Amino acid sequence: MTVAKIAANTGHQNVAMLGIGACRPSRLVSNHEVCKVLDSTDEWIFERSGIRNRRWISGDESARSMAATAAERAIANSGIDKEKIGALILATNSWKTKIPHGGPIIAYDIGLNGIPAYDVAAGCGGFGYGLGIAADTVRAGSAQYVLVVGVETMSVVMEPTDRNTAFIFGDGAGAVVVGPSEENGISPTVWGSDGENAEAIGQNYDIPEYMDRAQEYQHKDPATDPVGRMVVTMQGPRVFRWAAITLPKALSSVLDTAGVAVNDIEVFVPHQANARINELMKQNLGLADDIPMANDIENTGNTSAASIPLAMEEMLATGKAKGGQTALLLGFGAGLSYAGAVVTLPPAPEVTSFDDLG
Ligand code: UT7
Repeated sequence: MTVAKIAANTGHQNVAMLGIGACRPSRLVSNHEVCKVLDSTDEWIFERSGIRNRRWISGDESARSMAATAAERAIANSGIDKEKIGALILATNSWKTKIPHGGPIIAYDIGLNGIPAYDVAAGCGGFGYGLGIAADTVRAGSAQYVLVVGVETMSVVMEPTDRNTAFIFGDGAGAVVVGPSEENGISPTVWGSDGENAEAIGQNYDIPEYMDRAQEYQHKDPATDPVGRMVVTMQGPRVFRWAAITLPKALSSVLDTAGVAVNDIEVFVPHQANARINELMKQNLGLADDIPMANDIENTGNTSAASIPLAMEEMLATGKAKGGQTALLLGFGAGLSYAGAVVTLPPAPEVTSFDDLG
């Protein structure tokens, strides 16, 4: 018997983020406004989380419209011919359907119908997972350029009176184009999960796991029965404790894996979950006091899988960080899961998410 020779791809080992784009909802929602229905205060929210405002969708804004806008801006800012994009990865937790997933719809909306397009659900770590998979896809030669989009509309999967979640989450989308580059600009991903603590961030209403529950739901009308509206639940302090133990190890491991020293890090872009967690991580890792750290949470809230590209875009658009600088990224959240990498920041965007906000 002769064994058939099966062809293998070869790609480009050195890869980087070549362009970034984002989209922010036009509606800015203050702590004061949130507290009209939530039993909390502006002071408590700012002190405990670092949030002053968040953005929530309104009118005809949606996850679909924001993801497509962010993706188109990332492509325009990268200067890459759109037709060369060979795959799209959509990192999201709040996309309105599991069937169909959102990736193909976004590919269609931006004029790339037909390319492989799929969703990654890895909680707030989702963008880091997507970025790592995109980098490895280019390295393997499975696509020359890959678009990674993070999008969330957390406002619609939130209970406005829940003190654990209502003040923290926001909406938005961010995207990057990953492709070959002269110098490597994306380290190997350091990623992991902890399913033992899975229920620390969850949802009130599941797709029924057992047939008897499926039958029970058949008689309920989702439009009128609250069981039909899925909202996120979170045991905040439990996640905080997990973050305090797991993330310092993950961060040092990202530096080791990337082969860089702590002093090489010029910009720190952690997931925008809580400004206090970010300050603690910065101190524990021994990052220099004066290096810029993302603080997009202050006026954007926690946008889950969209937070890292949104935060990078904010820093680049405002000049707090510069294209070409070495940055440490770390996403973490539901799963529980995390993913981090050392990257070279993409060039500052020419078209920014602030252009249309006024
Ligand atoms: O993005 C996904 C990953 N998520 C995270 O990483 C979130 C991690 N966790 C957190 O960011 C924090 O746990 C929160 C910001 C969610 C909450 O802050 P906390 O400092 O952990 O608050 P706590 O739940 O321990 O509550 C402290 C106090 C309690 O009162 P006592 O027992 O000290 O009298 C709560 O009853 O604050 C009270 N409290 C509130 N007060 C006003 C709890 N929630 C609220 C609220 N407004 N919304």
